[in-house]
Parts: sequence; structure tokens; C-alpha cells
Amino acid sequence: MMVCEYKPGLEGIPAAQSGISYVDGQKGLLEYRGIRIEELAEKSTFLETAYLLIWGELPTTEELAAFEDEILHHRRIKYRIRDMMKSFPESGHPMDALQASAAALGLFYSRRDLDNPVYIRDAVVRLLATIPTMVAAFQLMRKGNDPVRPNDDLDYAANFLYMLNEKEPDPLAARIFDVCLILHAEHTMNASTFSARVTASTLTDPYAVVASAVGTLGGPLHGGANEEVILMLEEIGSVENVRPYLEDRLQRKAKIMGFGHRVYKVKDPRATILQNLAEKLFAKFGHDKYYDIALELERIVEEKLSQKGIYPNVDFYSGLVYRKLGIPTDLFTPIFAIARVAGWLAHWKEQLEENRIFRPTQVYNGRHGIAYAPIDQR
Ligand code: CMC
Repeated sequence: MMVCEYKPGLEGIPAAQSGISYVDGQKGLLEYRGIRIEELAEKSTFLETAYLLIWGELPTTEELAAFEDEILHHRRIKYRIRDMMKSFPESGHPMDALQASAAALGLFYSRRDLDNPVYIRDAVVRLLATIPTMVAAFQLMRKGNDPVRPNDDLDYAANFLYMLNEKEPDPLAARIFDVCLILHAEHTMNASTFSARVTASTLTDPYAVVASAVGTLGGPLHGGANEEVILMLEEIGSVENVRPYLEDRLQRKAKIMGFGHRVYKVKDPRATILQNLAEKLFAKFGHDKYYDIALELERIVEEKLSQKGIYPNVDFYSGLVYRKLGIPTDLFTPIFAIARVAGWLAHWKEQLEENRIFRPTQVYNGRHGIAYAPIDQR
């Protein structure tokens, strides 16, 4: 067997062959199935993009209509799942609620038929359709309210905002939210996708695959960073305080949330698109002073850290967009998960098509031949 050098964080080690998405971190390029993210953000919808990611081609008019219709008819969650969620503590993080709820789906759909394309499609539809309902339901129930039923007159993005805010969203807000979902739908071999593929490789059910990926996405070094960015901007509080805040953090070798990426060494193309979306929202619904703080932060981070290739990542501007859409800060990462379910499912399907269970090796650096010490001699 070939002996490889140990790379912390598996940096640069291919974990799979994949045709789903592509990143060029030097050029700031991201493609889904060969199509540039900028083009999808301008012309596509989230459900069309999800179809593209999972089945590899853009759908025809009929294929898209059938897919959208199936999703529409699977948005409701079982009352037992709703009742289970009611007993979650309202102080719990919505990512934990989502992980538990996604895993609970596996209890209701325990049949496993991974070689059957109909089973695959049903699972894809069920997960894409119900995850937003579960996120919105937990949000209302933790406030002591009953969840709102999905509204069949509204498309995917508008329906989520409706279930969350109990009123129909402004069309621009709904379109911008849909674009946010497109931008977050997939991103090559990141930590949660790797987690999804490892779980998938054991041939377990797709609900366990998504639940394990949700758990991985929640950490502050991954999807959780969008929430941390807003907390950081609030802590900075004013444009004048940006430089002292940053200098203090850098001196303590603390990370600046929303900056840096394992692959991108230039500004993440999704950050650029999100920044434009934020500006559109501010033009229509009023300015946000935290945007001025964010701009100053980006300027000074560039001055101080661009030589290390540290620029805004996807999480830097997304929180400002979600804030303007009236979304609570601790729902930012669950919203990332709503979108990323598309990518995880694409990887689940791809993994199954050429599966081999993940079983890496380790570099043992422990001891050998130690005698067992009786408890009274330790
Ligand atoms: N602020 C300050 N310095 C940084 C940052 C940052 N955000 N990111 C990296 N660096 C420095 C780091 O200190 C190190 O410097 P040195 O070589 O002098 O020790 C160098 O850059 C390399 O950093 P690293 O931590 O080894 O890089 P990594 O590839 O292991 O980590 C990262 C990538 C995204 C985890 C990291 O940049 C980070 O922690 N960023 C902040 C959290 C964040 O925004 N996460 C969202 C990531 S993008 C979307 C997602 O995955 O969900």
C-alpha cells in the first residue's frame, strides 16, 4: 500500500471523484455541473438548480413542472414530527432541532431501497420539501405559536418566508432569498459534504446522511460563521471601532469571522453576489448601519491580510441579507442547510453510483506494550 504523508484537515487530499461542482480558488470561479454560479444566480431558481445538481442536467419545462409539483405536495410534516419538535427546549439551537428532526424522518421512512431510482427520487423530494417546513415550524413553536401550514400558492422561497413570518413576502425579498439558496446549494468537498458522503458510503438511509451533514455544518468554522459575523458586527458597533477591534483580534491570533477559505485565495464569488443582493435590499427597504461596518472591515482586512489570500467568504455578507429579510440570527445556518440539502443529496446519489465505504487510515502516535496497572496502583 502507498504510504502518504499525513495532512491535517486532509488539505489537498482528494476524497472522491465528483462531477457536481467545481471551484478555482485562484480565479474565484464556481460552477455547478459546469455552469457559472453568476449565471445560475441571475437566471435560475433554487429548485431548478437543485434538479441540475442532483440529476446532472437542467430540467425541461415538463421535468421542472413535475419536480416542483412533487415538492409542493410533500411540504407538510407529519403531526408526530411536529409534536416531537414541540417538546424541544425553546432555548436549543435551531441547528440541533433541525438535525434531530431530519434524523426523525428516518423513523417514518425506514424502508431502504438504494438501488431503486424511485426511492432515490422520493427521498430527494421529501427532504427538499420538508426541511424548510421543519425550520419554520421550530421557529414558531419556540415562540409558543402553532406552526403555519405551507401555502400552496407560493413557490419554494416565498413559502418559506411566509411560514416563518406568517405573512406573504415582498416579491423582491422572495426572489433574493431564492438566489441565496442557489448560492448556498453546493460547494465541492467541504466538511459537511464529506460528512454526508462518509455516512452515505455505509449505505444507511438518506435521512441519516442529511442529519450527519447538518451536524457538521453547524460549527463556527463552517456554516455557523454567518451567525458569528453578525455577532461580530454588533460587537464592533461603529465604523470607527473597526480598526482597533481588528488589530486587537489579530494580535491575539483570533480569526475574523466570514473571512478566509481553504480553497479561495481571492474574494469568494458568492460574497460578491450576496453583497449586490444586500445593496438591492437596502435600496428598497432601508439602509443597515452594519453594512458600513462590514465594508470598512473588508477594507482593513484586505490591507492587513490579503498577502495571505484572506478575503470575504460566502458567510460574510449573507447575514446582512438575512437580517434585512427579517430572519433571526440563529436561523442563518439552518437556512444554509435548507439550501445545502440539494448538494448533499447530489453527493449521496453520486456516492451510491460508485460506492466504496470510507475507511481511511491514521498515523498512530500512541504507546505500545504498556502493562495494565491494577486500579489501586495508579
Ligand atoms: N482571520 C484571520 N486570519 C485567518 C483567517 C481569518 N478568518 N482565516 C485564516 N487565517 C490565517 C490563519 O491564522 C493562518 O495564518 P498563519 O499561516 O500565519 O498561521 C492562515 O490564514 C491559514 O489559516 P488556516 O486556519 O490554516 O486555514 P484553513 O484552510 O485551515 O481554514 C477557514 C479555513 C475557513 C476555516 C478559516 O479561514 C477560518 O477559520 N475562517 C473564519 C471562519 C469562517 O468564516 N468560516 C466560513 C468558511 S466558508 C463557508 C463555509 O465553509 O461554511
